[in-house]
Amino acid sequence: MKQYEDQAWRESMRIRLDVNHLMDEHMDASAQTGFEKQVGAVTEADLAKIMPRAERARRSLSHKWGKASQMMGWTKLPTGQRKVVDDILKTAARIRRNFDTFVVLGIGGSALGPIAVQQALNHLHYNELPAEKRNGPRFYVEDNVDPERMAALFDVIDPKTTCFNVITKSGGTSETMSQYIILTTWLKEKLGNAWTKHVIATTDKKKGNLIRLAKENGLKTFVIPDGVGGRFSELSPVGLLPAAVTGIDIEGLLAGAAYMQEICEEEEDMRKNPGWMAGILGYLLMTKGKNIEVLMPYADSLKYMADWYAQLWAESLGKKFSVRGKVVHVGQTPVKSLGVTDQHSQVQLYAEGPFDKVVTFLAVDNYRAEVKIPGGFDDMPNVNFLCGHTMNELIKAECSATEYALTKAGKVNQTIILPEVNAFTLGQLMYLWEFKTAVAGELLSINAFDQPGVEEGKNATYAIFGRPGYEEKKAELASQPAKDPKFIL
Ligand code: PA5
Repeated sequence: MKQYEDQAWRESMRIRLDVNHLMDEHMDASAQTGFEKQVGAVTEADLAKIMPRAERARRSLSHKWGKASQMMGWTKLPTGQRKVVDDILKTAARIRRNFDTFVVLGIGGSALGPIAVQQALNHLHYNELPAEKRNGPRFYVEDNVDPERMAALFDVIDPKTTCFNVITKSGGTSETMSQYIILTTWLKEKLGNAWTKHVIATTDKKKGNLIRLAKENGLKTFVIPDGVGGRFSELSPVGLLPAAVTGIDIEGLLAGAAYMQEICEEEEDMRKNPGWMAGILGYLLMTKGKNIEVLMPYADSLKYMADWYAQLWAESLGKKFSVRGKVVHVGQTPVKSLGVTDQHSQVQLYAEGPFDKVVTFLAVDNYRAEVKIPGGFDDMPNVNFLCGHTMNELIKAECSATEYALTKAGKVNQTIILPEVNAFTLGQLMYLWEFKTAVAGELLSINAFDQPGVEEGKNATYAIFGRPGYEEKKAELASQPAKDPKFIL
């Protein structure tokens, strides 16, 4: 039996959401002990008022009702991919046997998930480990078109032993397709016809150029299902193949997501439903002027989960129009921060600056390593107080201390607690955030699943590069007033 099939273990691994410091009731009690009065906490009246709409939002996000046409395909991913998972595991085993380097080519939702999951669940110096200690090939994600970075990649890879996974939902994103062209040309030069064994395409089953190229060249292909947008695609082959290649337990990830999905969809008591509650509170805080959410994991392993969440939250909720076409200009700016590192750079602002933020801590009960701080400084009490403790104790103390400092300063904050970082808890966290985002989108009455602001930039790039069909856009760009040199200093 797999660990995550054991009910007691599952319960022990349930992630928790502590929202005490968002709630007016609690913050008011804190104020009576001399803490600064909180501005913009959530009251019971706020919750009661939003309840009917929140209830409708929760019901509409069930995997039982969601239709692919409404971009709800992500709700089907935790439990609906048995055959795909088998194919991924088989392909991953072949890659692990035949290659010593695996490179993902993708951007945005086609890159941030693979990066985040790799950082969370594999060794923090994975690529530097000797091959026998790694769980698979060295792993790179190329999510930019910086020429220096591409040149640097060529310096560390060998065509004979490198496998590329090109990932693009639309099959046409300029950045990813330019990487595809560069790297497949290089492979062809070095390997001749055998290049096709070194490239795997993950894309839409019909739309876009990548699927056409994949079919023409007989590339192994994985499909990003209908109704799954880029930033909601990590639990599809987009994230599952790269994770499986580096030895991550993808069935554990999906089991964690399914566990959280059941809670989010079925639990009718908002106070026991973290995904739903997080979405409701996120929305209410926006209505109270909290325009920024700072995400602060107290674990290096979760550092890039903040990047993944930042895309999910920003791209889904930052919208000009409501679903009824009204101009609304909504959204909340996500800011990435790392505990304890950024205590020494950003926390001054969070404690004493404007009351425009909510801080979300990510805390971990049990780290996967323990490091002791040895003794030997008895004659220096100001150093010795650290001795005999562990770094585990220190990082947790610093997390509690920052939470206290912000609360004392009247700044709203919440904490998501992971019992430990493993595939099951990470799957839960991802699903919780996806559900939260979708709930907030419903309450804001916007389409959380499109990204017209991103498309505009993509189209402008096509126009600048002279892609056929973008002549009008090119003319529009050319009609901009020229920059005045007097404003360039
Ligand atoms: O969430 C999204 O849809 C976007 O951020 C995309 O992931 C990103 O633009 C990359 O698109 P594609 O996967 O089509 O190459």
